[in-house]
Amino acid sequence: LSMKIHLISAARPNFMKIAPLYHALSKEPWAEPLIVHTGQHYDLNMSDVFFQDLGLPAPDLHLGVGSGSHAEQSGHVMMAYEKVLFENRPDLVIVVGDVNSTMACTIAAVKISFKSTLSNLTSTDPAGVLNSADLDRPIVAHLEAGLRSFDRTMPEEINRLVTDTLADILWTPSPDADDNLIREGVDRQKIQRVGNIMIDSLEMLRSSIQKESVYSDMGLHPGKYGLVTLHRPSNVDNPEIMTRLCQALLRISQRVPLVFPVHPRTRKRMENLGLMSLLEKADNLIISEPINYIRFMNLTFNCRFALTDSGGLQEETTYLGIPCLTLRPNTERPVTIHKGTNRLCRLDNFEEHVDDLLSSKTSHDCKIDLWDGRTAARVVASIKSYFKEPKRVP
Ligand code: UD1
Repeated sequence: LSMKIHLISAARPNFMKIAPLYHALSKEPWAEPLIVHTGQHYDLNMSDVFFQDLGLPAPDLHLGVGSGSHAEQSGHVMMAYEKVLFENRPDLVIVVGDVNSTMACTIAAVKISFKSTLSNLTSTDPAGVLNSADLDRPIVAHLEAGLRSFDRTMPEEINRLVTDTLADILWTPSPDADDNLIREGVDRQKIQRVGNIMIDSLEMLRSSIQKESVYSDMGLHPGKYGLVTLHRPSNVDNPEIMTRLCQALLRISQRVPLVFPVHPRTRKRMENLGLMSLLEKADNLIISEPINYIRFMNLTFNCRFALTDSGGLQEETTYLGIPCLTLRPNTERPVTIHKGTNRLCRLDNFEEHVDDLLSSKTSHDCKIDLWDGRTAARVVASIKSYFKEPKRVP
């Protein structure tokens, strides 16, 4: 008997969160990790190249859901995943991050009903968290639980709230996340602080990342360019904001070269507004397609600063001690501000922040507890203690 574990992957930021876990679980004789890809991101350069870089096999199960409105996308994931759940009967479902598929798979898994092959083991659940006698569905664990922006206009905040309310095990990256969950009335026994899984991927691939010199292929010098990523609806879906952002990027590029790998959502908006051709013509602004993990991280390692609205990049720059300007009014990752290199900024002040950064000294490493490349190992230990290690029947 082995424990069947679904690792739910859907969108670009999920892949670097499931990879370390997949590799760690693959080494455990009692675990059978299966990758479930919902298909939320489907372009080669938004999905497949990440699987290659991260050493992941092709997904075991593919839901092929694709794009749509929030309700459409979430609904299609729930319908498709429910079928897979019935057919495949996992013991544990691990969801990561805060995308629509994270929430949708959580809902499907906690509402399903079948006799778990592990129900006998979970009845000895040492923490007593589960009402295990009645357990006839998989356990659901959320990795990266407890993050809150306190901004319910963000689709991700809704996904986080729903997922954390429903999941059985909440693996958090930092103390602020524990505090948020406790404030919401979550049973403390459900919460386990395991650290930041993204750092595991970064450390796993550090030498491959450092071997590249993507910046020099682009005619840039280490420490002498800014790295830009933008994809949040609040920045890119509003034509006026998008236009002003692009104008500001053009101005900044006259002071410091910028590299801007463009997310498909952003590209569509920019093309509709005629901004793409404008930016492509600028001398010091390198516009590219989305870039695979290793090459993108190489650009990150060597940039002077990042300008972003991504969640992951706020964390990676903090870990690397690289200044980051986050174009958002809030962040669900406050530790990157208090302990790290991150600053929140607005459309009307980020150019000043760039000037300020360029005239100040470079930052240095910021140590955050449990952001150490060993999070996957702690997750595996947590699973073992939760289920009590099942023995393989020869
Ligand atoms: C999603 C996540 C967001 C995450 C981001 C990372 C939600 C609500 N949002 O946002 O939290 O930070 O992924 O990228 O889950 N598209 C393509 N090819 C693809 C994927 C998307 O062309 O492979 C286009 C589609 O037109 C789609 C649009 O991009 O409508 C947006 O994709 P979607 O997955 O809905 O949201 P993201 O903006 O990528």
